[in-house]
Amino acid sequence: MDEFVIDGGRRLRGTTRINGSKNAGLPILIATLLTDDPCIIDNVPRLRDIRTTVRLLETLGKKVVWSKKKVTITHAKQLSTHAPYDIVKQMRASILVAGPLLARFNKVRVSLPGGCAIGLRPVDIHVVGLEAMGAKSTTTEGDIVLNGQLKPSKVKFRFPSVGATENIMMAAAAIEGKTVITNAAREPEIEDLADFLNSLGARVTGAGSSKITVEGKQKLHGAKHKVIADRIETGTLLLAVAAAGGDVILKDARTEHLTALIKALKKAGAKITPTKNGLRVQASGRPKAVSVTTEPHPGFPTDVQAPYMAYMSIAKGEARIREAIFERRFLHAAELARMGARVAVSGDAAFITGVENLSGAAVMASDIRAGAGLIVAALAAKGRTVIGRVYHIDRGYEQIEKVLRKLGANIRRLR
Ligand code: EPZ
Repeated sequence: MDEFVIDGGRRLRGTTRINGSKNAGLPILIATLLTDDPCIIDNVPRLRDIRTTVRLLETLGKKVVWSKKKVTITHAKQLSTHAPYDIVKQMRASILVAGPLLARFNKVRVSLPGGCAIGLRPVDIHVVGLEAMGAKSTTTEGDIVLNGQLKPSKVKFRFPSVGATENIMMAAAAIEGKTVITNAAREPEIEDLADFLNSLGARVTGAGSSKITVEGKQKLHGAKHKVIADRIETGTLLLAVAAAGGDVILKDARTEHLTALIKALKKAGAKITPTKNGLRVQASGRPKAVSVTTEPHPGFPTDVQAPYMAYMSIAKGEARIREAIFERRFLHAAELARMGARVAVSGDAAFITGVENLSGAAVMASDIRAGAGLIVAALAAKGRTVIGRVYHIDRGYEQIEKVLRKLGANIRRLR
């Protein structure tokens, strides 16, 4: 298993371009199941989760050619409507095939993703949404089986789940008539999916707000699409620079996708300014402690909570971080403590009393973003940190060691 070896204390300087978004790329690739025509998706990050998605599409019967950042998906054979456990267990987002396949073929069978390191993560909101559109569901041998001809409907979520919003949008895009989703997720990735569904021939309005209207068509056509820049990679790099010190320009980064994080960073003392097509971040010494609560977009994103905790570990004062999206997304706290952070976790809150310096240690990544948090801590720490289980980080960050090395960090991958 690969490890990262990081010698901390170097300031980061220079310019880097933000990669395409993993969490926008995944549903968009899956949405190509809605048509038999060819689709070309550009700016796709080369990541483990995207490779798993490609394998899922191939298993279902698509032909996928991946060249650099461009993925071409064509119809190879009659699509299968069964997403098997060996793929779903590697990537929970596989549940997103349920909506498009059910809408097109009136049946789908998807292995149920179990819980994961950060929470229980049930899929009830997806299922209730599809049932509201006319599906019948049963669970058998660990799979969820959905049957029925979907009808345009009014779907109201009990919580604005990102995945459930995407699933229902895709299902609604493939049936004639108007479906209205209320209490929908408002994440930028939803807007990107809406843009793609519109280029396939559906009519989606309201994406980015909590009410989305989808006017679907039974036959959608092929399209080209460029995936938006990854706001979580952006957030992680903003925090890395703010914690380690330095001055970096992040090309393609979008301020409006990260308002809550940028607000907290500015309060803590970092300087963030828009550039022609991105953001510039300048660190300014030890940050002030600033408390945050994770929330659905446009609130503070749970996916940068771990890197933010690493940043707050060296702040002046005490910060409280409340994690309101996932039940157990604080596994990084104990690893940060190994580096000298003073963190106490109680229920859904973590209390961080900032220390002047973290010190390098051997630590382990428990999920993608926990791993990113450890990188941020290691860049700011004195001495050497060795991060194990880097495969978690590789699920969501494209060659992050290369990006950081280019900016002056002392980081290498041990194979
Ligand atoms: C998406 O996951 C992202 N994944 C996650 O990114 C991100 O953390 C999350 O949204 C929240 O922003 C992708 O886009 C592929 P949710 P998703 O459904 O869709 C509960 C990363 O590191 N819930 O909005 O699975 C759920 O348990 C990750 O890149 C139900 O109870 O998130 C969680 O507590 C990990 N029932 C909360 O809602 C459901 O049916 C938010 O989940 C669905 C969700």
